[in-house]
Amino acid sequence: MSDKTDPQRMEKIVSLCKRRGFIFQSSEIYGGLNGCWDYGPLGVELKNNLKQYWWRVMVRERDDVVGLDGSILTHRAVLKASGHEDTFSDPMVDCRTCKARLRADQLPEKNGSKQCPNCGGKDLTEARPFNLMFSTQMGASADPDSIAYLRPETAQSIFVQFKNVLDTARKKLPFGIAQIGKAFRNEINPRNFTFRSREFEQMELEYFCRPEEGMKWLEYWKEERLKFYENIGIPRDKLHVLTVPEADRAFYSKGTYDIEYEFPFGVQELEGVAYRTDYDLKQHQEASGKPLDYFDEETKQRFIPHVVEPSAGVDRTVLALLCNAYDEETVTDEKGKSETRIVMRFHPRMAPIKVGVFPLLKNNEQLVAKAREIQAALRPSMNVFYDETGAIGRRYRRQDEAGTPFGITIDFETLGEKDVGLLDTVTLRHRDSMKQERVKISELLSLLLSQVQ
Ligand code: GAP
Repeated sequence: MSDKTDPQRMEKIVSLCKRRGFIFQSSEIYGGLNGCWDYGPLGVELKNNLKQYWWRVMVRERDDVVGLDGSILTHRAVLKASGHEDTFSDPMVDCRTCKARLRADQLPEKNGSKQCPNCGGKDLTEARPFNLMFSTQMGASADPDSIAYLRPETAQSIFVQFKNVLDTARKKLPFGIAQIGKAFRNEINPRNFTFRSREFEQMELEYFCRPEEGMKWLEYWKEERLKFYENIGIPRDKLHVLTVPEADRAFYSKGTYDIEYEFPFGVQELEGVAYRTDYDLKQHQEASGKPLDYFDEETKQRFIPHVVEPSAGVDRTVLALLCNAYDEETVTDEKGKSETRIVMRFHPRMAPIKVGVFPLLKNNEQLVAKAREIQAALRPSMNVFYDETGAIGRRYRRQDEAGTPFGITIDFETLGEKDVGLLDTVTLRHRDSMKQERVKISELLSLLLSQVQ
């Protein structure tokens, strides 16, 4: 496993994210809200492409998974029963010198003693648990009964709605319930850009099965999830699978894998795949007094299903996509001049903009009309960017930085002015190789769709 870190590369990625409109600090003009991020025009497309592809392969293309969209505000009793109210905490210490609040398990050590990463002070308090949940008051009264929480994970509404989904979707074991949505944790030290945030999104599947099949489905989902990352362009050799040792697993888990990625700040977790046994359903059955069991028509037995949970972070995966895509190369033009090309090599499926459409000249009505026609034809099927300003090379470079995999240039050959055989053809430029080919306008849509879907 590589432990290489590259802070300079990370700085360049953060700077490109701001410059090109992928990710901005939340409330930036007021000094920023620590641990919260806003996704700009390119970032929101990238994030949506990721979530839509996850939903497609995890829900729509399967017979055994259905979806749910639960509320963010969560009944206190849910998070009491799940164990979050009592134990969802990180160890915290205070630095008595600079008053910083720090995560006790992430303190750097010098000469065998822990020190404050801000001021270097060694006068630290004893560690104490700090609950990570955000609480709020529901309604006008402020008594303890009105406390509600912002959910710290999407999983709990799936467990709590298990019976309703089972009754309405009429599924038989094994089957899963999937959800994508926001989760909130009052992290002591948000860090590494969006990697550890206070507001983030998760993509979670709770896959219910017979108790004797739990370990089999754990292996199955680990493999499926590895394939997923490869299908969005993250190569297998940048992924690591950590078998979480028993001592580090939740006490109810019979097996957990962490899928990790080689970020520029180190190898870190993207997703956990955990066999949670029947813990969650049992807890909610006991606390609510409502049955959450399953009747097996074949064996005529009633039991609480076990669950295997692949739980991925949307923001962390977006960050991995950004880190993986960033590339710099030296290119030399036809006059022999060298320059650095910054190119985001996103998989076309994930790329925020799929294709740029460029009329060669903006003051030629026929070229512009043809370009607008092509834009209108492609738009219902993919995100298209129309650009008529600046030299064509500059327009290509701008799209390279946005990670747009294809560029279409409408030139005088398109109008049949040079060779009537080239009438209604365009130049199709490929981002990665910068190679150009001549393609018929009538073939563009199917050619592009085969790459970006
Ligand atoms: N339901 C299980 C669960 O929530 P987790 O390991 O705490 O498990 C799952 O979270 C995933 O959610 C993580 O692998 C990570 O991708 C993402 N995640 C967790 N905390 C996060 C944070 N503070 N910022 C960004 N993503 C986070």
